Amino acid sequence: MSAYEQLIKSGNKFFLVFEDMTNKVMTSKYNPLYYHGALPQFYLWVLFLSGLLLFAYYIPTVDNAYISKGIINAWTSVEYINDKIPFGAVVRGIHRYAGDAMVITILLHALRVWFTDRYRQYRWLQWFSGIVLLVMVLFIGQTGYYLVWDERSLALTRMTVYAFEGIPFIGPTLKELFLNGDTISNYTMANFLFIHIGLSFSLLFGLWIHYVRMTRPVMTPPPAINYVLMALVLAVVFMFPITSGKIATLNGTPTGFEMDWFFLAPYALLNAVPLGAYWLIVIAITVALCLLPMPWSFLIKEKPVDAAEVVLSKCVGCNLCYLDCPYQAIEMVPAPAGSRFKLLATVLPYRCSGCGVCVGACAFDAIDLPDLLDSAVDAQVKQIVEAK
Ligand code: HEM
Ligand code: SF4
Ligand code: SF4
Repeated sequence: MSAYEQLIKSGNKFFLVFEDMTNKVMTSKYNPLYYHGALPQFYLWVLFLSGLLLFAYYIPTVDNAYISKGIINAWTSVEYINDKIPFGAVVRGIHRYAGDAMVITILLHALRVWFTDRYRQYRWLQWFSGIVLLVMVLFIGQTGYYLVWDERSLALTRMTVYAFEGIPFIGPTLKELFLNGDTISNYTMANFLFIHIGLSFSLLFGLWIHYVRMTRPVMTPPPAINYVLMALVLAVVFMFPITSGKIATLNGTPTGFEMDWFFLAPYALLNAVPLGAYWLIVIAITVALCLLPMPWSFLIKEKPVDAAEVVLSKCVGCNLCYLDCPYQAIEMVPAPAGSRFKLLATVLPYRCSGCGVCVGACAFDAIDLPDLLDSAVDAQVKQIVEAK
């Protein structure tokens, strides 16, 4: 067994022990670990709703020249939401901490599918789209921090511009697209708001790709778990209320800021290593994660999947295997001319997991796994029953 396989085995063992302990406290019906994919999805809905409420009062401008006369900009509008709107501080806190919770639950979900070996072969698209979703979520969270327009926002914006400037050829264009011009201006803030909201909605498209090959993805935890998830966020909101830093001034030089490790860790890296090394590390980690599901034989010995096969002479086109297949690996195609039936089942081998669900679904003995014929399964079951 390779060191990699050993790591996966230990990771899985750790999760199983943890799962067992959670089952004892919460019972298997309400164990949140059995809904690890649904947890970030729940927090996404919370973020959409709380974000909508914040958006109603947010003003995306950086111009603070008239602040003494009470003219508002991004920072003062956030302060207004926080101090003047009933429950504004709570909604702001929910939005901030639900974002952190989403990142934590995404990492939990990714580790769970990784350690249970549910990320390779016919599941590569879910893994790959998951990495894209994670990168998007991190960037959306970072743009959220720019929107407050306190000293931290200014420092982060300048660090991002510095990071873009280090990219050969496309760096200056990226910088201009990011700032919506040459320098930080009101247009920049409108751009940040557009990126923050636009990318958040694009997550829905990313999630559609994530789910498209799963017949019945578990997307919602039971209500009792939702209440607990929400109560946890509220507890943190009241224990650690959100405050902004000092208002950003364009000619000021912020010296440091409070860290949110879930979203801002890349900035800590940017601060710690030279610019070239920063991009190398970020790109290397992202590419390595995207390529993890490839059949790397030095990492893991991959057993080829024996895809199911349809016995066309027996298929009546009843659709049952198509409806039951968990991985959308069966298509119903028009039957050849002269057939008594309109449609026949066909298996897409690259999507098939060899799980055998379709074999059980077919009442006509018309679909088999190549190395496990229906008759052989019947014989094995009979043998076991007779031996008892
Ligand atoms: C916005 C963030 C994400 C959400 C809302 C999400 C949601 C989900 C849901 C609801 C499922 C179905 C789970 C089930 O039916 O048991 C799922 C499956 C899956 N997800 Fe995610 N996911 C996200 C990010 C990720 C990430 C970052 C990865 C890994 C890099 C990932 C990898 C996978 C894989 C491999 C599966 C298939 C697992 C299986 O077939 O058992 N997802 N996801
Ligand atoms: S064995 Fe059958 S049910 Fe399972 S993935 Fe393949 S086609 Fe779908
Ligand atoms: S369940 Fe059997 S008979 Fe029905 S479409 Fe599938 S293979 Fe054909």
